Amino acid sequence: MKTGFARVTENTRLYGDTYIMWLDSPELIQGATPGQFLMLRCADLLPGLDGAAELTGASIADDPLLGRAMSYHRIREGENGREFSILYDVVGRGTAWLARRDPGDRVYAWGPLGRGYSLPGQSGQNMLLVGGGIGIAPLLWLADEGVARGKSVVLIDGARDAKGVFPAELVPAEAEVVVTTQDGSVGRQGLVTDVFLDYYGWADQVFACGPNPMFAALSEVLTRHEGSQRARRRKPVQALLESAMGCGTGICYGCAIFDRRGNPRLVCKEGPRFELREIW
Ligand SMILES: Cc1cc2nc3c(=O)[nH]c(=O)nc-3n(C[C@H](O)[C@H](O)[C@H](O)COP(=O)(O)OP(=O)(O)OC[C@H]3O[C@@H](n4cnc5c(N)ncnc54)[C@H](O)[C@@H]3O)c2cc1C
Ligand code: FES
Repeated sequence: MKTGFARVTENTRLYGDTYIMWLDSPELIQGATPGQFLMLRCADLLPGLDGAAELTGASIADDPLLGRAMSYHRIREGENGREFSILYDVVGRGTAWLARRDPGDRVYAWGPLGRGYSLPGQSGQNMLLVGGGIGIAPLLWLADEGVARGKSVVLIDGARDAKGVFPAELVPAEAEVVVTTQDGSVGRQGLVTDVFLDYYGWADQVFACGPNPMFAALSEVLTRHEGSQRARRRKPVQALLESAMGCGTGICYGCAIFDRRGNPRLVCKEGPRFELREIW
């Protein structure tokens, strides 16, 4: 894990209320894999430090104090080396602060953190990616990697309405995109779980990210499906979980959840990737 300032190279609204920010910091991307995340301090520099060359974590105002967790969304080659992006919805103070950043601004962060997706080896050719809402964020880098490794990728993108759908033209052309919206304004009307089984038989591995109700619904669909196909081999379903985080590094215990056996698990250190059946 590295800590430091990343320089904003681009920050724009991409669709609906969802923004993309590109950041220039080779250190913060070094060793990162799809599904990992970083923590960002969403607070201003202390007065008088705006133009300062040497900055540390102590150069930032302490309100809000806690960092905000964001998945690595994608990587690209920038003018000064590798850049990474975050894809984010504005839901509160921290993300509103992020949305106000301009190119050249600096953001203090630490990462890469957590256990990301485990990419399939030779045997796993067909990757089914399932994103609910902003859960699509980490799946794009995974889709990029899958396609680069010659895998077949299907991405199910579930949103409330057309405004929440990730732009299909930004998904690698080799991947198939299946859109569901709850109001039917684009794609198939319904939830990701309504189309999931159409692709599950084809998939060797499933990678999911979204809100907890989506995972609970996926688990229910799978339990019903497997019950009806008795001797069926269970396929891995890697679920990327969210939980309120204070530190991102295993210190504060703010992100603890209970797995289905009642054992406490730290989402930031043991996750955010869990096997779906460990939790639901
Ligand atoms: C591992 C991980 C990866 C994440 N990746 C992304 C991402 O790629 N893009 C993205 O937009 N968001 C992501 N999130 C969620 C993001 O961290 C929160 O939306 C953010 O912290 C909200 O900060 P805020 O100050 O704007 O809102 P706050 O004012 O702190 O909260 C606003 C609302 O968001 C809820 N909220 C706050 N933190 C979380 C959280 N961690 N999980 C769920 N709800 C929360 C609050 O309960 C409240 O209702 C991720 C969270 C985790 C744990
Ligand atoms: S966020 Fe602090 S222990 Fe997980």
